[in-house]
Amino acid sequence: MTVEQPTEESVEVPARDWFQSAVVYQIYPRSFADSNGDGIGDLRGIISKLDYLHRLGVDVVWLSPIYTSPQDDNGYDISDYRNVDPIFGTLEELRELTDGLHARGMKLVMDLVVNHTSDEHPWFVESRSSKDNPKRDWYWWRPPREASTDGSAGGPGAAPNNWGSAFSGPAWEFDQATGEYYLHIFSRKQPDLNWENPEVRAAVYEMMNWWLDRGVDGFRMDVINFISKDTALPDGPIAAGMLYGDGTPFYIGGPRIHEFLQEMHREVFDGRPGPLLTVGEMPGVTVEEAILFTDPERAEVDMVFQFEHVALDQEDGNKWRPKKLKLTDLKKTLGHWQTGLAERGWNSLYWGNHDQARAVSRFGDDGKYRELSAKMLAGVLHLHRGTPYVYQGEELGMTNMTFGAISDYRDIEVLNHHREATTHLGHTDADVLAALAPLNRDNARTPVQWDASRHAGFTTGSPWIAVNPNANHINAAAQVDDPDSVYSFYRAVIALRHSEPVVSHGDFTMLLPRDEHVYAFVRSLPETKLLVLGNFSGQIQEVALDDADVPVVWDSAELVLGNYPADAAVPRLHLRPWELKVFRAGAAHTIHHE
Ligand code: GLC
Ligand code: CA
Repeated sequence: MTVEQPTEESVEVPARDWFQSAVVYQIYPRSFADSNGDGIGDLRGIISKLDYLHRLGVDVVWLSPIYTSPQDDNGYDISDYRNVDPIFGTLEELRELTDGLHARGMKLVMDLVVNHTSDEHPWFVESRSSKDNPKRDWYWWRPPREASTDGSAGGPGAAPNNWGSAFSGPAWEFDQATGEYYLHIFSRKQPDLNWENPEVRAAVYEMMNWWLDRGVDGFRMDVINFISKDTALPDGPIAAGMLYGDGTPFYIGGPRIHEFLQEMHREVFDGRPGPLLTVGEMPGVTVEEAILFTDPERAEVDMVFQFEHVALDQEDGNKWRPKKLKLTDLKKTLGHWQTGLAERGWNSLYWGNHDQARAVSRFGDDGKYRELSAKMLAGVLHLHRGTPYVYQGEELGMTNMTFGAISDYRDIEVLNHHREATTHLGHTDADVLAALAPLNRDNARTPVQWDASRHAGFTTGSPWIAVNPNANHINAAAQVDDPDSVYSFYRAVIALRHSEPVVSHGDFTMLLPRDEHVYAFVRSLPETKLLVLGNFSGQIQEVALDDADVPVVWDSAELVLGNYPADAAVPRLHLRPWELKVFRAGAAHTIHHE
């Protein structure tokens, strides 16, 4: 294998741009490592793996929510923003984790979930207690718009509008006690906060400042482009085969979103010594909007998670209607984001997270070519311009899970969809299970596979969700000391970002946009060029580079990274199944055609 070993060298970059050469690792605490045998991952489990993360070379850990929560949506329903849920540990343990990361030169980014709270948060408990409670207006309360068709309070047809929830069913829940409905874009236990109310915003900023004062290094902001809503709350269009209207045009990137994020920046981030990292999770965001969100001069967020490339393998952006991905679509989409944010703003780069299928199963080949394709995907993604995110287990080449019956699933999104599709839409159990298999979120939520022992070394008890049976051969213990493993390859790719300014700062040019098998691009700085070639197929591909596009003699360039053993007999632009080749041409190799 041709990999450069990680070096201690680091590149001098201006402080504001530190995240351009950083790699973020996402931990989904429930599934990472369980220290006390209750079957649920926890903070002490994470603390026990700090050296594993350090060795991988990542710069930042993003921790999915560990706050006090009824766990309706695995912690994305928070009932106390300033405490740790007892299933995960204590504030003292979080301090220990933060210190342990800092001691190893890593930063901690917390999940910020402020589009909604739990219905058990004291703010909502107060808000629902009466129509004249001072916190009534902290959430979206509306009276029935008309009498329900069956005459009952809150019955059919009476909801304030026709919006559906992202987790099936209506987006409105009727509250018997006060005779009004509240809005919940996600589950009924996740009521939406009313950001129109300045007290809500002040309370959120105060909480964020409290965390930064405690030493956290930034936030990943959950569905942050949903916080400004069209206050008229109009009905949305009802698509074919759907039961409810689509409210997204009225709350994605709503009228005051930039105002709110700029205010947040002023109230929370301005004047802090840093360096800090902010990334906004933004379903439905366009490149044009992302430029505005991430232009440093506008002071909103450092980068956003866009969703276009993870919608290409489904009909109409519906994850329950999967279709085959076309590589040309993937290149077009990611290339568009590279170009769009080239001058102003910054990209985040990801194949997966806790809401997406496993990268190698989705974009690679999780059978015969699992290791090769996992490595190729790592190289292709991380060598784009932007900040790469590694989702736990991705660095081991963990795969999707084969679940059996619906009772094997844990995710509220899956369970609600299955219920709605089988009871209200007339689909069979078998059809629903088959359709949800490729893209459901539980694929990524099975426990991290630490070793080949019972339950993969994740827990000594019984895990909250089944361990993937392939843990017997896909696990960390088998990989950390193996120089040919997927883990070692991730180390090398991460190290390359740290040592090569062209990776963090170079321009990006997509090549071969019409090729259905080869992903090819060039990164360039005046002195250095990288050519990245990834074979997205199990067949041999001969890469035909057009000289006009590539002002470099790649024949004499150095192969700096590859996922096959070096073999002088193999032509340089010949790619074996799922092969990745990365060539580096220094100034001496560069021919300028002009
Ligand atoms: C985000 C989270 C997801 C959660 C949802 C509601 O998309 O990543 O896990 O279910 O927001 O908070
Ligand atoms: Ca535990």
